[in-house]
Amino acid sequence: MGIKLGILGLGTVGTGTVQLLQDSVGRHPLLNEIEIYRVGVRSLSKPRMVELPPGVVTTDLEAIVNDPEIDIIVEVMGGLEPARSLILTAIKNGKHVVTANKAAISRFGAEIFTAANQASVYVMLEASVGGGIPVIQPLKQSLSVNRIHAVTGIVNGTTNYILTRMQTEGSDFDDVLADAQRLGYAEADPTADVDGLDAADKIAILASLGFDGRINLQDVYCEGIRQVSKTDISYAAKLGFVIKLLAIAKGQTSDNSQLSVRVHPTLVPQTHPLASINGVYNAILVEGEPIGQVMFFGPGAGAGATASAVCSDILNLLANLKTNTPKSNPLLACRHQNYLQIAP
Ligand code: NAP
Ligand code: HSE
Repeated sequence: MGIKLGILGLGTVGTGTVQLLQDSVGRHPLLNEIEIYRVGVRSLSKPRMVELPPGVVTTDLEAIVNDPEIDIIVEVMGGLEPARSLILTAIKNGKHVVTANKAAISRFGAEIFTAANQASVYVMLEASVGGGIPVIQPLKQSLSVNRIHAVTGIVNGTTNYILTRMQTEGSDFDDVLADAQRLGYAEADPTADVDGLDAADKIAILASLGFDGRINLQDVYCEGIRQVSKTDISYAAKLGFVIKLLAIAKGQTSDNSQLSVRVHPTLVPQTHPLASINGVYNAILVEGEPIGQVMFFGPGAGAGATASAVCSDILNLLANLKTNTPKSNPLLACRHQNYLQIAP
């Protein structure tokens, strides 16, 4: 056992991650080196779905990020504070960070990645967008030679699940939202899903990566699905459309210095590739030159899918450490450090 993990959070994603790490030992040589050393929670009395040795679970999250034994912090607690401060303390202490926290990254990404650069540590964020879909790494690396024109996605599993069930079963909004919460898809405060804020965080991150600059979250137009009724959905169907909550980032000028970044319910023609993405599934359509169109598709939320992304980050991080790959944190390596201007 060479690498000690400190995991902040043992909810949907934390539990899925511990389960996957425990079940996968032997599946990849690097996994044998990992030890789940500490796990931070709010309440010690809550029943847990995973078994951990006595003393591993604690409510002292500060102690975890300050523990000199720990090499990697996996932040799956969510929220802005204390998540931001704990991540920054971990980085200051020379620990690598894996996070699923799109809200913290979209708001504090510049601060976090500057600190990571100074401390020469990795910050990995594959799980922050698209649940189990590998999209951060491909956008940052495999597609980076392209000139991106647009990134358009269904990036919130909860709202796509709600809209799909309203459309296919005529279900009521509140009943389906309760199901999405029970299934572990929704945020702790589901307002973030329903009002489009979670999708805004995610498109800000994707746009920063795709267009090589920082996005000011306040400039992202954001409208959720509260106003979408079953009547709207059935009229749309009669006209050959489905209603999807789309997150869109589009270049407005030839040099991409002005972008339009927005989240809103959209009439999508039934023949469009995004129209058939149903339930908790997400899809991200990237358009660029010379590649043309590439679409990433997969489960956008839930314990297993998100744990897959978290664990892939842990493995990539360990592989990078083994090969001494230079730290290239996404968002930090932006060619334009300035904020991109958002088109009115
Ligand atoms: P969750 O089920 O609400 O779990 C949060 C965990 O963090 C709980 O174990 C909670 O402790 C702990 N926690 C929260 N605040 C704490 C505090 N102040 N002090 C100590 N412990 C604290 O959340 P989740 O669904 O796993 O989501 C976690 C993160 O992953 C969020 O950033 C979310 O946006 C992101 N994410 C979620 C999904 C998904 O499908 N759920 C997918 C992708 C990304 P207790 O258990 O004691 O309450
Ligand atoms: N609440 C989020 C969603 C979790 O429904 O998409 C995945 O980021």
